[in-house]
Amino acid sequence: MSQHFQHDVLVIGSGAAGLSLALTLPGHLDVAVLSKGDLANGSTFWAQGGVAAVLDDADTVQSHVEDTLNAGGGLCNEDAVRFTVEHSREAIQWLIDLGVPFTRDDPSTVVDGGFEFHLTREGGHSHRRIIHAADATGAAIFRTLLAQAKARPNIELLEQRVAVDLITESRLGLEGQRCLGAYVLDRSTGEVDTHSARFTILASGGAAKVYLYTSNPDGACGDGIAMAWRSGCRVGNLEFNQFHPTCLYHPQAKSFLVTEALRGEGAYLKLPNGERFMQRFDPRAELAPRDIVARAIDHEMKRLGADCVFLDISHQSEDFIKSHFPTVYERCLTFGIDITRQPIPVVPAAHYTCGGVLVDQQGRTDVPGLYAIGETSFTGLHGANRMASNSLLECFVYARSAAADIVTQLDHVPQPQNLPAWDSSQVTDSDQDVIIAHNWDELRRFMWDYVGIVRTNKRLQRAQHRVRLLQDEIDEFYSNYKVSRDLIELRNLAQVAELMIASAMARKESRGLHYTLDYPDMLPEALDTILVPPTFAG
Ligand code: FUM
Repeated sequence: MSQHFQHDVLVIGSGAAGLSLALTLPGHLDVAVLSKGDLANGSTFWAQGGVAAVLDDADTVQSHVEDTLNAGGGLCNEDAVRFTVEHSREAIQWLIDLGVPFTRDDPSTVVDGGFEFHLTREGGHSHRRIIHAADATGAAIFRTLLAQAKARPNIELLEQRVAVDLITESRLGLEGQRCLGAYVLDRSTGEVDTHSARFTILASGGAAKVYLYTSNPDGACGDGIAMAWRSGCRVGNLEFNQFHPTCLYHPQAKSFLVTEALRGEGAYLKLPNGERFMQRFDPRAELAPRDIVARAIDHEMKRLGADCVFLDISHQSEDFIKSHFPTVYERCLTFGIDITRQPIPVVPAAHYTCGGVLVDQQGRTDVPGLYAIGETSFTGLHGANRMASNSLLECFVYARSAAADIVTQLDHVPQPQNLPAWDSSQVTDSDQDVIIAHNWDELRRFMWDYVGIVRTNKRLQRAQHRVRLLQDEIDEFYSNYKVSRDLIELRNLAQVAELMIASAMARKESRGLHYTLDYPDMLPEALDTILVPPTFAG
């Protein structure tokens, strides 16, 4: 039997953005936080590098803003960048106050009254401004936020819950567009429950799983973006998919990122013959922004027919490497690579979705009552290429801003009443799960081949043709069979793939992460790619 739950705030996603919002809301609100699998399965847990913020007295907001604008290829929204950076110090202080164990600086180097935490550097940053917890920052932040959330009686953490679709007034045939909650599959019962909520938050991460090779965990299926689109929200800049330049290349190493902080601390990128090459592509060499580094690696691998390039930090002392990069050291060692002595084989892999659901500075989408925060959203911060470690910062700043906005509306938003239950009367159990598995593989492979680091009109057309065929099959499956996590994710991935392809086709230039052989130059005017759904709520 399906059930009906009522919440003040329903948060779809249990990573940095979702938990931060839940913890910022007043304690008298009933807040439910949903996770598709176990709570720690999201991308936050795997983030290595850190959080970019203006913390050092010698650094300035203006410098962080300028670096972000430069990395973003002329497409960042300067107001969004300034808003985010101006709130960076208070966001970090909030995390420190919650107890996040950031790495401290060597006490002998901290001048009286100076900042006591170690700051590292990453590509595009002209200053040391990345606060981190060794090379496992995401895990440290996640554990702290989760412990705090578990201690709050008003926050209910619900695992194995997969949101199927949002419930809006227009979906129910009512007057208005407001979001009233979501239909959610409870994987333990197999039932789709109704979760009504005064406010619904999409904090379900990005869509890097749309590509065959990715640094992301399995859940990064663009669920929030797809659900928002179906409920009438505009989406923006989905052609900008960031490929992280350095993921471990090893047959048994599934999705292991080798943090950019290695390059920040002096690691060199080398060809198989040991030669450095990045200075041929950019004067900043290994510390150029990610789009440039990933494209240079892709170019050199194709030129040489090489399977990978190498990242070498072995010229640093063993103590330094082990204390700054314990996670990378241990992980590589399990594959027989001692990074204190040997270079690491690396390749680029899909890492971050720069576009997403259009929001304002409060995280509000086009649909009243529906917010999007973190990687799901498109705030304008990242432009055509996200600068390293700006994404966790965006999660905290916009989560706190959205929470503050919700508080201003509490008095005039009632609990939705009489929402209908999910109708499963027309569907049966599937005996065709092989089709879902096959379609997953097919989608991710053609997205990698045709909508990857280097694109052409022809490749995009091929991808568009294939995604439409897949969507027809998926729709038929969805109409006839009971939903499962795999089917829901595949449906969302195909939806987001279609939007990514349409966005890439609309951009007749090369800019930032979008590089096409048919339009290799950048146009003089930088314009966002905004897609408007047939059911636009605005
Ligand atoms: O390289 C890294 O540690 C990743 C950082 C980021 O994506 O911001």
